[in-house]
Amino acid sequence: MTTAAAVDNKPLPFLYHFVAGGIAGVSEILVMYPLDVVKTRFQLQVNLGNTGGEKYTSVMDCLRKIVKNEGVSRLYRGILPPIFVEAPKRAIKFSANEQYSTILKNFYGVNKMSQPLSIASGVCAGATEALAIVPFELVKIRLQDKESAGKYRGTLDALVKIIKNEGPMALYNGLESTIWRHAVWNGGYFGVIFNVRGLLPKPTSKQQTLLNNFIAGGIGGTVGTLLNTPFDVVKTRIQNDSGVVKKYNWALPAIKTVAMEEGPGALYKGFVPKVLRLGPGGGILLVVFDQVSTWMKKYLI
Ligand SMILES: *[C@@H]1O[C@H](CO)[C@@H](O)[C@H](O)[C@H]1NC(C)=O
Repeated sequence: MTTAAAVDNKPLPFLYHFVAGGIAGVSEILVMYPLDVVKTRFQLQVNLGNTGGEKYTSVMDCLRKIVKNEGVSRLYRGILPPIFVEAPKRAIKFSANEQYSTILKNFYGVNKMSQPLSIASGVCAGATEALAIVPFELVKIRLQDKESAGKYRGTLDALVKIIKNEGPMALYNGLESTIWRHAVWNGGYFGVIFNVRGLLPKPTSKQQTLLNNFIAGGIGGTVGTLLNTPFDVVKTRIQNDSGVVKKYNWALPAIKTVAMEEGPGALYKGFVPKVLRLGPGGGILLVVFDQVSTWMKKYLI
């Protein structure tokens, strides 16, 4: 018989960590994906003069217009690339964070994580994660864009056409802004959950542990999103562009261009659907990960 404390103290081997992260990530995406489509639509909505076309005024308005004018299935168009990459991506997020924590603790000769160390390991983990996901993100953005809807029949068709028309390196458009986006989000997320966990009352039951994880994850996700949305906006713009001459290239100059042309508020396009997703989404991730890994420690290890 294994006691609760013994279960908590057992380390989780890498493979189990990987699988639990993947299961958590896919659960999150199945629930939250339509908000990702809404986010991309907002980020690609440029308000330079009166362009005529359809304008989305709120998350509900956007969901309603997509369903009414394009059909319900559009809310899930482009879900395959993130599903394919979700398991490795989430697993990298959590396992890389743990690996970097160990490396940094060894480097500084300490045996406990401090807040600066947890931020630094989060930043490194985020940059690592960005490398893996960029091509998947690019195909997803192309499928979510309304203007490109007639251009690609589906995931594979988009992938083939992008490689054929723009060259294989085009799949890595937006790499730099994606690294920024992830490093900044993880820095905020891991920095904050470390602190919030310390502030919350010490959990005495499983339910309380789950609740604490949910609160810390929700707050961490919101702070990460506050910090990284401008990088997300320019990443979406860069990856959407299939032209030969690019309007946006590097993240920081692109942020300046967007702010000057559309006003500083434009750097927060898609913020609301992003927060609606990432607050609860971060919570779902932590809770599912926790449940699955506790189950694994109890029955599989
Ligand atoms: C996104 O790409 C489509 C197709 O190339 C283009 O028509 C549209 O203007 C782009 N949107 C933005 C905001 O760059």
